[in-house]
Amino acid sequence: MMANITVLGGDGIGPEVTREGVRALQEVGRLFGHEFVLTECDFGGIAIDNHNDPLPATTLASCLAADAILLGAIGGPKWSAPDAKLRPETGLLRLRRELGVYANLRPVAVHPALADSTTLKAEVVRGVDLVFVRELTGGIYFGAKTRDADSASDLCSYSAAEVERVTRVAGRLAQARRRKLTSIDKSNVLETSRLWREVVTRVMKSEFPDVAVEHILVDAAAMHLIRRPTDFDVIVTENMFGDILTDEASMLAGSLGLSPSASLGDGKRGLYEPIHGSAPDIAGKGIANPVGTILSAALLLRHSLGLAVEAAAIERAVATALDRGLRTADIAAGGRPVSTAEAGAAIAALITKV
Ligand code: IPM
Ligand code: MG
Repeated sequence: MMANITVLGGDGIGPEVTREGVRALQEVGRLFGHEFVLTECDFGGIAIDNHNDPLPATTLASCLAADAILLGAIGGPKWSAPDAKLRPETGLLRLRRELGVYANLRPVAVHPALADSTTLKAEVVRGVDLVFVRELTGGIYFGAKTRDADSASDLCSYSAAEVERVTRVAGRLAQARRRKLTSIDKSNVLETSRLWREVVTRVMKSEFPDVAVEHILVDAAAMHLIRRPTDFDVIVTENMFGDILTDEASMLAGSLGLSPSASLGDGKRGLYEPIHGSAPDIAGKGIANPVGTILSAALLLRHSLGLAVEAAAIERAVATALDRGLRTADIAAGGRPVSTAEAGAAIAALITKV
């Protein structure tokens, strides 16, 4: 098949890890006979520097015309002064909105070879296999903001329709997995959470009666996630709770650097990015873990291009590499770490047709 993929390296370690995601895609293209047409565009801080806009019109047009977008990470100290007029993050939020990707899938699976290298006890994390569905284009991230010298406000609002559509994504995912959905909110305090709980309950009952649903308050969820993580299967939550809890959940797998994500809307087009961010402290050193990006490339193949076999080939390559002891610095635990490029090349070399 032929597919157009826009590649947004972004800032910090973004370009380094994106290069390895691209390498995996190119290897898949070569092995399976697909033509992936890759278009690189400036996005985030680099786009502020080069175009005075974190999401230049040309970049947005390329993304809108693409079948899928692979993104590294954006942001950094250079663009984060409290009084900065232009922020890389604003570009990312706008891009998510413009693409209409309201459902952000963030899977967390503990690789058996890494169960001992997390900060948690191996017996707690072994067997974890869960996926967050984070609402991505609503809530406090997008509400009206005010600011004067000594006060500030951020409005959090949700419509029933916004909750319904993300619940349906989570419901379908739960049906394809272990038929168990956990919805996380703060309905003891927040009005938006009361709406959230009501809508999730109604949609699940009428459209997904075969899925067991539980509701947990976000503070308790933060605790249960590290106390009994294997109990969770599909978790649906609003934008900011999802942002916070997915960083926490990524630690179950051993490192933030391992976690991929897929941001999806109603069509096939999606935005794929590791959840780790631009990590300015290690940028340019060539030591970042490319696995989150490489696994994001696998999600891209599966969800936007319908290439499930090819996606599985990448995921198998990553698993084999980890089994054989391939470790970047974040998961090396005293052993000799490989570089970003070495890890990417080793994984690409392990991609096979069967
Ligand atoms: C994420 C990031 C972003 C978010 C930032 C960079 C705006 O933390 O994708 O989790 O908060 O959504
Ligand atoms: Mg985050």
